[in-house]
Amino acid sequence: MALTLLSGFSFDYDNLFGEGKVTQADLDSYSDALKKAHEAMKVMRSDGVIKAHLSKDGTPEKVYFSKLPYITEENGKLNLNSPASIKRLHDFTERIRNNVDAVVSLGIGGSFLGNKVLFDVFCGEFWNTWTKEQRKGLPKVYFSGQNIDTRRTGDIINHLKAQAEIVKTHEQRKFKVMLIVISKSGGTLDTMSNFMVMYDALKKVDDIEIEIVAVTDPNMEKKTLLKQLAVENGWETFAVPDGVGGRFTIFCEVGLTTAAVIGMDIEKFLEGARHMDEACQNDNMWENPAMLNAALKFAAAQKHGRNIEVMMPYGDYLKSVSEWYIQLLAESLGKKFDKEGNVVNYGRTPLVAVGTTDMHSQTQQHQEGTLDKVVQFIKIAKWDNDFVIPNVFPNAQKLADISGVTMSEALEVARQSNADALKSDNRYNACFTLPELNEYHLGELLYMLAMSVAYEGELSNVDAFNQPGVEAYKRIMGPKLQELKRSKGL
Ligand code: PA5
Repeated sequence: MALTLLSGFSFDYDNLFGEGKVTQADLDSYSDALKKAHEAMKVMRSDGVIKAHLSKDGTPEKVYFSKLPYITEENGKLNLNSPASIKRLHDFTERIRNNVDAVVSLGIGGSFLGNKVLFDVFCGEFWNTWTKEQRKGLPKVYFSGQNIDTRRTGDIINHLKAQAEIVKTHEQRKFKVMLIVISKSGGTLDTMSNFMVMYDALKKVDDIEIEIVAVTDPNMEKKTLLKQLAVENGWETFAVPDGVGGRFTIFCEVGLTTAAVIGMDIEKFLEGARHMDEACQNDNMWENPAMLNAALKFAAAQKHGRNIEVMMPYGDYLKSVSEWYIQLLAESLGKKFDKEGNVVNYGRTPLVAVGTTDMHSQTQQHQEGTLDKVVQFIKIAKWDNDFVIPNVFPNAQKLADISGVTMSEALEVARQSNADALKSDNRYNACFTLPELNEYHLGELLYMLAMSVAYEGELSNVDAFNQPGVEAYKRIMGPKLQELKRSKGL
């Protein structure tokens, strides 16, 4: 059983729905809730309203992520994607082409995870080792700010300095570094501490020229700290729009600045998301990928105790998709209170896994551990530049046996075998299939997952768009830092 869109994107739920799994009766028991959730999505799309959603300061806040795939003038008024904003991103690509040597993207959480997905999927592991010509004049890309790790920050600084030295020797010019600082709130400790350390260290190097770009809340009346610095110093800025929470920002200028830096097809990415949004407007749950995914996962958790979701794409560069999803699911649905203020402690627990790697570690637990998981696979149907496994050692029968098939065929045999083995012991699993790994299908997948948690927020009656839980440690951490400064006499 699978839901397949015209694009070829499919959701195979054969091992999640049916006898001994989530049943029709389970779903029927939610039919009113599903109808209400679907109506709530319509209201969200048209008015940006989600019942009981409040911002961090306790005031009603709009939810606009579902507008992001649509490139319209009207959306431009809300700092969402418009023809002008997309053109500006293209201009940005051309401005940095052959002009910037290295970009350091600084951000954490929603200001990092989506950007990392785009980089990993479209650049892979060796982008920074390619020549400028191979990168079509585009810069090397580094990520920082996603931790407060003095060793790695030092490594990036030293690495940039070393490259500056080489450029000075061979080309007698300065090495151009662009620091893209991404923070919606504009003052996040992790991001800003790395930014200050890096800026301070690099500006002392004569052979390095630094440019700073700020991606933050564009509000000019109530400027974020980062916005204020950008205005004072004349830095170029991009917007994290009002109504777009961190974990939904891959489709706005947070993700799209990285897309521009690596020369991705932004329109195709948004087109995939838009077509998925259209599919998710279908009133028939069996033809609506987000509603179906949310309903099945919700029922699996509520009725069958399968409240851990293992997101397991097959392919190395898809690991960051899993890491992006972990934030989406955890921050959106892990909530103490429901929309009426009752304590519910809701939330399915997400886990990162990658196939085939984790078949040699986690799979033991998935196969024989507690019956509390849904293993969600992601499969790419057709990989580019596929190798045929050659028969290099014909006398070694075991190796000869695996020759002749392509690596991607072997990968799929491994995934299918994992799915079959899990199924044989009633271990729930499902699979999203992308026909190819390109901008369009990635846009479809990520948007569907975002829309799915929005549905699940309604089904579970929790606010999927706030994250009050992350304030708890922040309330402790701020004073602790000040106390530390005092104790050091600062
Ligand atoms: O999803 C979220 O809201 C968080 O993960 C934020 O993106 C993260 O804390 C970074 O916040 P900011 O962009 O304000 O620096």
